[in-house]
Amino acid sequence: MIETDRLLIRPFRDEDRVPFAAMHADPEVMWDYERLFDRAECDARIARYDDFYRRLGFGRFPVLDKRDGVFLGYCGIMPTPDDHPMAPAVEIGWRFTRKSWGHGYATESARACLDHGFNQCGLTEVLSYTRNDNTRSENVMKRLGLTFLHDRSWTHAGHPYVVYIARR
Ligand SMILES: CC(C)(COP(=O)(O)OP(=O)(O)OC[C@H]1O[C@@H](n2cnc3c(N)ncnc32)[C@H](O)[C@@H]1OP(=O)(O)O)[C@@H](O)C(=O)NCCC(=O)NCCS
Repeated sequence: MIETDRLLIRPFRDEDRVPFAAMHADPEVMWDYERLFDRAECDARIARYDDFYRRLGFGRFPVLDKRDGVFLGYCGIMPTPDDHPMAPAVEIGWRFTRKSWGHGYATESARACLDHGFNQCGLTEVLSYTRNDNTRSENVMKRLGLTFLHDRSWTHAGHPYVVYIARR
């Protein structure tokens, strides 16, 4: 369990499945994927996040409003898949419900997840990457004070990606 001034970040529970799936059914939130995820894909993702958390001590977690427990989004660190251009590495990522944008929740939760990864899980370097037209996500990386890696860009489906790094 990770707590910040405004947020609660904890392992997934059954009650998170519905809001997690609703977020992944919102075209505005999913614009970077250019497709939506159905409930089965969402449940499979939660299972994968949980599996990494059990094995490694870190993973993607639901982010909740501390005052009322409302689901705001997810944030956390995951190993990049073996066939990814940045592998082997671990990556921090985030996705928030549309209503939760513009409150600083992504930055607040990511800062706490990085602190957890570095100080509780022994990580020394964490990447973060996004499509170069995902300004909102890149702005989170900048707010966190991550370092831009000029020489680590790649292109996927016609979109160049930007890569940042956090070091302990
Ligand atoms: C990427 C994403 C998580 C960014 O969310 P966000 O809310 O813009 O990011 P932050 O949490 O850093 O919030 C910063 C904003 O909150 C505002 N804010 C309001 N109150 C604040 C507070 N108390 N503290 C900090 N910031 C605050 C900031 O001024 C800033 O506003 P701006 O957007 O007008 O510049 C969100 O847009 C999203 O979920 N996008 C879709 C999924 C996605 O692209 N994920 C990343 C894939 S790589």
